[in-house]
Amino acid sequence: MPKDRHHSFHVTHVVGARPNFMKAAPIVDALAARSVAQSLIHTGQHYDELMSDVFFRDLGLPEPVVNLAVGSGTHAQQTASLISGLEGALESDRPDALVVYGDVNSTLAAAIVAVKIGLPVIHVEAGLRSFDETMPEEINRRITDQVSNLMLVTSPEAIGNLAREGRPISKIRFVGNTMIDTLEKNRPRFDPKAVQAELGLNDEWALVTLHRPANVDSRKRASELVEALNDVSGLLQLVIPLHPRGREALVSAGLRESDAVRIVPPQSYLSFVSLALGARVVITDSGGVQEETTMLGTPCLTVRPNTERPITISHGTNRLVEVEELFATASDVLANAITVPARRPPLWDGTAGLRCADEIISFLEDSTEGASR
Ligand code: UD1
Repeated sequence: MPKDRHHSFHVTHVVGARPNFMKAAPIVDALAARSVAQSLIHTGQHYDELMSDVFFRDLGLPEPVVNLAVGSGTHAQQTASLISGLEGALESDRPDALVVYGDVNSTLAAAIVAVKIGLPVIHVEAGLRSFDETMPEEINRRITDQVSNLMLVTSPEAIGNLAREGRPISKIRFVGNTMIDTLEKNRPRFDPKAVQAELGLNDEWALVTLHRPANVDSRKRASELVEALNDVSGLLQLVIPLHPRGREALVSAGLRESDAVRIVPPQSYLSFVSLALGARVVITDSGGVQEETTMLGTPCLTVRPNTERPITISHGTNRLVEVEELFATASDVLANAITVPARRPPLWDGTAGLRCADEIISFLEDSTEGASR
């Protein structure tokens, strides 16, 4: 096979929701450097300026070839619109392979459409498991992995998770974490002091993000959380960029703006990571934030009973907390009673995108050779 054979490959990426964008950018860049033709499809699962457009600008992502504008809805409605929109888009695009990211509804829908129309599926961030079937993301991950032809994993335990589900080792590659590539690339642009000044924050703050259905959809749970946050706000100022999903629930559960509790709009990538870097502690239920705080060295309290990212606990700054423990644990962290390990997880080194590009090209070369034999 000629060395520049991959020049004629065409790969399509499907992204749709905020956490996809940071994962895709390094792979798009690395494949572009290897002259692979690419298209980016945006499903429009996230559509607000602050949930989507600002990330494309911060990360320098290419303009999508199409935005399907599927928007919000129940899981069934949203997934149905995603599936029918993506079928049309992929039928006309006809790439050699489809790359999907993470665990959002757009990921699952794209994987299902691709496998049904005979396109190979490459899943970035395969094999993470919370073993919690009440999380929509857990279902999305498992099904996506079941139909993926190449599984690129961020963390070694993902290999065992996939093997236990019967996925062949020959289709799994440990490449590291492309979200961390994005973080490392942008390190020089993070500026906690500038964001502090812009938002008028105190010298010390806790960054809070909460949006998971398990935390905000039940009124009782939302009220318990608001109570715990009010207690923590007696220790230091909270800054809470409110995801649209949590806004109404948390506000109707009694969350109120004050000097101690600063409620701000969803932040751009650069502002958000700057806030996490400058924070004394981060309180979250997000997946990606557990990874980012691990690399930033900021203590992270994850208000969930489980995590699909155990490496952020074994190597990073993360710990799982019950809502009842939040105040006491935050107090301990602020008193430095809890010291956090700061070991870099393996291959979270800023070059995972290059390894992904290599694996994607080898996969396409093998597929082409297989087809021509
Ligand atoms: C989705 C992902 C979740 C991820 C999160 C990151 C799924 C199942 N969940 O959750 O894994 O952690 O993104 O943000 O895919 N909304 C807006 N503007 C937007 C987008 C959403 O106002 O641009 C509001 C709508 O009221 C919508 C709600 O947020 O109904 C939920 O949006 P949706 O995309 O269904 O899920 P997320 O909670 O954002």
